[in-house]
Amino acid sequence: MSGRFIAFEGGEGAGKSTQAQLLAEALRARGLEVDVTREPGGTAGAEAIRTLLLDPPGTGWGAQAEALLFAAARADHVARRIKPALASGTWVICDRFVDSSRAYQGGAGKLGDDAITSLHKFGSGGLRPDLTILLEVDEARLARRLAARDGTQSDAIGGRSEEYHRSVADAFRSLASHEPDQFAVVDGNGEPNDVHTRILGAIAGLLKERN
Ligand code: TMP
Repeated sequence: MSGRFIAFEGGEGAGKSTQAQLLAEALRARGLEVDVTREPGGTAGAEAIRTLLLDPPGTGWGAQAEALLFAAARADHVARRIKPALASGTWVICDRFVDSSRAYQGGAGKLGDDAITSLHKFGSGGLRPDLTILLEVDEARLARRLAARDGTQSDAIGGRSEEYHRSVADAFRSLASHEPDQFAVVDGNGEPNDVHTRILGAIAGLLKERN
């Protein structure tokens, strides 16, 4: 049986990486093979593109070039890591996937959803996760977490204006409300273990399908 594909989405500092690791441990404890990966990145080529995107040369990328680079990184990641893992029965947990491109480049970056989904169709055959977990965290808590994590350092995209990031959050919320079968919106406030328990509740259906 092929593996399941779960993506974590949300703004910066929402706790995605921590929750991806906690979920992987919980699934491994149930005897599943799990591959935890991230975007942009996850293969040598995609990690090289990540550097280009987050620490861009010169004056940085225009909106279209940025979207193409994310799509190119994703195409390599899907072809070389995600699809082979799923085919061999491994569960894949990905810290961000195409819905980040839809929210950041399509929504906040104003390229529109059709442009991003077309690129995804061309680059990655339109692959969608079995479930996308959108972690929602209060703005004040996010600001505190980010200050503790990044200090004054942030990358080319993380460092964009508050308005840009608010627009990313709105775009995620809108995607989730229009695609309720694709998304599980999980309250990311509180202790990591409490958030983890909520996530286990959100994926219960996927685990049941397997039995
Ligand atoms: P992170 O993986 O540390 O969150 O950093 C990745 C940054 O790239 C983050 O600011 C979100 C942004 N991003 C996009 O703008 N579009 C995408 O498709 C992805 C995967 C990430």
